[in-house]
Amino acid sequence: MSSQTHLAFASTAVGITSVIQVPTPSPGPGEVMVKVAFSAVVPSDTYVTDYGRNTNGEYPVLLGLNLSGVVEAVGSGVGGLQTGDKVCGFATTGSRGKGLQERAIMQSSTCAKLPDDYSLEAAATIPDNFITAFYTLFDCLELTLPTFPVSVPPPHAETPILVYGAGATSGQYAVQLLALAGYRRVIATASPRHHSYLKSLGAAHVIDYSADDMLEKILLAAGKKLQFVLDCIGAESTLKSICNVVSSDGVVAMLLPVKEGTRHVAGKDAQMWMELPVDRNLFPDSVKLVGVRTRLYQQNEYLRDNLMPKILPRLLEEGIIQPNRVRLFDQGSLQDRCQDALDVVRNGQVNGEKVVVKVASD
Ligand SMILES: NC(=O)c1ccc[n+]([C@@H]2O[C@H](COP(=O)([O-])OP(=O)(O)OC[C@H]3O[C@@H](n4cnc5c(N)ncnc54)[C@H](OP(=O)(O)O)[C@@H]3O)[C@@H](O)[C@H]2O)c1
Repeated sequence: MSSQTHLAFASTAVGITSVIQVPTPSPGPGEVMVKVAFSAVVPSDTYVTDYGRNTNGEYPVLLGLNLSGVVEAVGSGVGGLQTGDKVCGFATTGSRGKGLQERAIMQSSTCAKLPDDYSLEAAATIPDNFITAFYTLFDCLELTLPTFPVSVPPPHAETPILVYGAGATSGQYAVQLLALAGYRRVIATASPRHHSYLKSLGAAHVIDYSADDMLEKILLAAGKKLQFVLDCIGAESTLKSICNVVSSDGVVAMLLPVKEGTRHVAGKDAQMWMELPVDRNLFPDSVKLVGVRTRLYQQNEYLRDNLMPKILPRLLEEGIIQPNRVRLFDQGSLQDRCQDALDVVRNGQVNGEKVVVKVASD
């Protein structure tokens, strides 16, 4: 371990965050060290800071699942990445790999090489929810794994598929990936402000989830109850709605944790569960409910070896996957930027955009 240190934004106790100095490790076998330019703040960061979730009571806990930056050192056995490459990556290596720090140690398989001229700001919006959407559709929901560009329509090309909460950043990637993979009957629920964008990404039908007749509109668009549903919100209320439109032999993938109430971010007094509690589960037993934990995606060896190393770089090179809109926090100290970003995420003041923090001081 080197004696060098760098700055990191961390949760140091429940409800307390601060910028601290941490050791700068060297990359081990299969790892790269990234000089971080930008990171993103997501709902799960607030669960760590506000409730101590996933900390096991051990602090400090670093934050930020996504990063973009430049590879500064390469460990042994890494193919495909070299010093100087621009990358975006998804944190899987504990605190060492978190994005809200100046240097991160990443498993090379969780990094995607970016085109030379790609915006690092935009790239920081991609990894977590691109992986979430791909893993949910083509592993959890078991839709046919696509090879892009798709030349033959998939078996369910004409089957209606519901993306509930498609205004969320995860939903935007789900709609794009379904369209790119050849699915022609994607039904998306979102606030009207997202409708034209979601149509441009490939949704065949867009429906306002706050309309009184939302369920009728979904059924009208689908023509019958749905076989495949992705719930990008995973709240009690969204699952309740889905219950009314899914077929008795359908499958529903929900992004965990399940949140009590109606929002995609659980407030301080709301409960969260890693499965839908039996006494709140309104689905018949015949419906398959799959809880999505994206951090497990590497258990699928094909995804581990291909999704970030090969598939995403190609989609970016060809310009056929759109990053999310950026809401940038680049003013004030690192502490100010991270704190302000956490506030807007915890207060649910995020609408179809990714909260991106400038990490690098230069
Ligand atoms: N377990 C996992 O692996 C995993 C991975 C990724 C995300 N997640 C979870 O999935 C959820 C979404 O994450 P995200 O990053 O995609 O969030 P996000 O981009 O911050 O989502 C914000 C959007 O959610 C929409 N929304 C909120 N409540 C809604 C409701 N009741 N019905 C429909 N849409 C609603 C709003 O859309 P409108 O603007 O249309 O109102 C809002 O713009 C979070 O709870 C997150 O923790 C879990």
